Amino acid sequence: MSREPTAKIILEGKEYTYPVIVGTENERAIDIRKMRGETGHITYDDGYGNTGSCLSDITYIDGEQGILRHRGYAIEDLAEKSTFLCLAYLIIYGELPTRSQLEAFRNKVGGAAGLHEDFRHHFQGFPQKAHPMAVLSSMLNSLGCYYPEMSSNNREQDLEHFDESAALLISKVRTIAAATYRMSRGLPFNFPRKDLRYVQNFLHLMFTEPYDEYETPAAVTEALDLFLMLHADHEQNCSTSTVRMVASGGANLFASVSAGVSALWGPLHGGANTAVIKMLEDIHASGDDGSRFIQAAKDGKARLMGFGHRVYKNYDPRAKILGQAAERVLDALGLQDPLLDIARHLEQAALKDAYFIERKLYPNVDFYSGIVLKAIGIPVNMFTVMFAIGRMPGWIANWKEVAEGSKRIYRPRQIYTGPAQRPYAEPRGK
Ligand code: CMC
Repeated sequence: MSREPTAKIILEGKEYTYPVIVGTENERAIDIRKMRGETGHITYDDGYGNTGSCLSDITYIDGEQGILRHRGYAIEDLAEKSTFLCLAYLIIYGELPTRSQLEAFRNKVGGAAGLHEDFRHHFQGFPQKAHPMAVLSSMLNSLGCYYPEMSSNNREQDLEHFDESAALLISKVRTIAAATYRMSRGLPFNFPRKDLRYVQNFLHLMFTEPYDEYETPAAVTEALDLFLMLHADHEQNCSTSTVRMVASGGANLFASVSAGVSALWGPLHGGANTAVIKMLEDIHASGDDGSRFIQAAKDGKARLMGFGHRVYKNYDPRAKILGQAAERVLDALGLQDPLLDIARHLEQAALKDAYFIERKLYPNVDFYSGIVLKAIGIPVNMFTVMFAIGRMPGWIANWKEVAEGSKRIYRPRQIYTGPAQRPYAEPRGK
């Protein structure tokens, strides 16, 4: 980060100057940290579209050009050459691991896959129909109770145990997710296997039956590894900002990522992958090829889920990669999914339509991700949980940045618009 001369603001006839800070990729921000003290004014930015809440070394996005890089590496390169655990290491520690570092990280993650037996009681405490995201958020916070030395809310102590807690969360989020699925189906929980890699182990935890060991087709492992990589981090999105917000108060990693899961759940964020499939199924069931739905979206009667993004005003690079992966995995498994045809038709129609062009609305990561997940047998109500497994490295890296960096609590201001002071009146009337 460098500093440039100044920005000037004139308020009530008086001029104030503020430094302009410049990021690695020439992004510019007016540093207004002293503004309220000097002028008595704050800035107003509903939805934070113009607000930089932090300095971060992790991920760079150029939304106008459709660029996404983690620690300087292009997502296209990572998607082609890396694996989820290798990328997780990069995102968390800042550099690609050496072979031995990767092996050690794999072993640490692999060795942490099991859950304390008492977890069965936690699962039993939920109704069978509980939403997996509610279960996951609760379980991640509960997990911290089993490791009090890692979840002390004492920054130095929690950071001392960081390597352990990071590996543990990356590992156990997958075990918990699979157990949630098994619980919802009334199926016995599976134990993790030491001989399986991360993604295969997850699929085993999900789909192995006591009488039938799950065989993982290579196309499924590859597609899922790619899906996880494409969700690993995405700078200051709603859930990551939530994690940082919670972390800024000094809360431990477990509590912070548990809050991240809750933030991710909503349909405008991670819940969009579920909403996309529902939309595509509804379009299919109604006999529409997508044209009527596009019109409804333009008339403001529907929202084209999986389209549009606060930052991307161009094609989300992750959507391109997942669109191709959807074709590949369906081909490899010999499946045909009419939803893919509808999605392609929606995309082509929207990309030619003035409404979407003017608003710069392009497919985002969630547009094709549901088709990939459906092809590999993940049930729809688990889609957002899959996003959470993928996003765990990003949440962890952002927690670390806050814990190691700024000591300031995140605490935005507001403009109060309620009633002015008035005298208290005893309850009256009926
Ligand atoms: N379908 C139809 N119109 C849209 C859509 C859409 N998906 N998205 C935005 N618009 C319109 C919106 O109505 C507005 O039009 P107007 O200017 O006439 O009022 C204009 O485009 C700007 O939209 P906005 O809501 O102000 O944009 P935003 O930056 O606040 O919202 C968004 C971004 C992602 C929440 C929004 O595009 C959306 O709701 N998309 C559908 C949900 C979705 O796919 N979410 C996943 C996002 S990517 C993964 C993640 O981060 O979790």
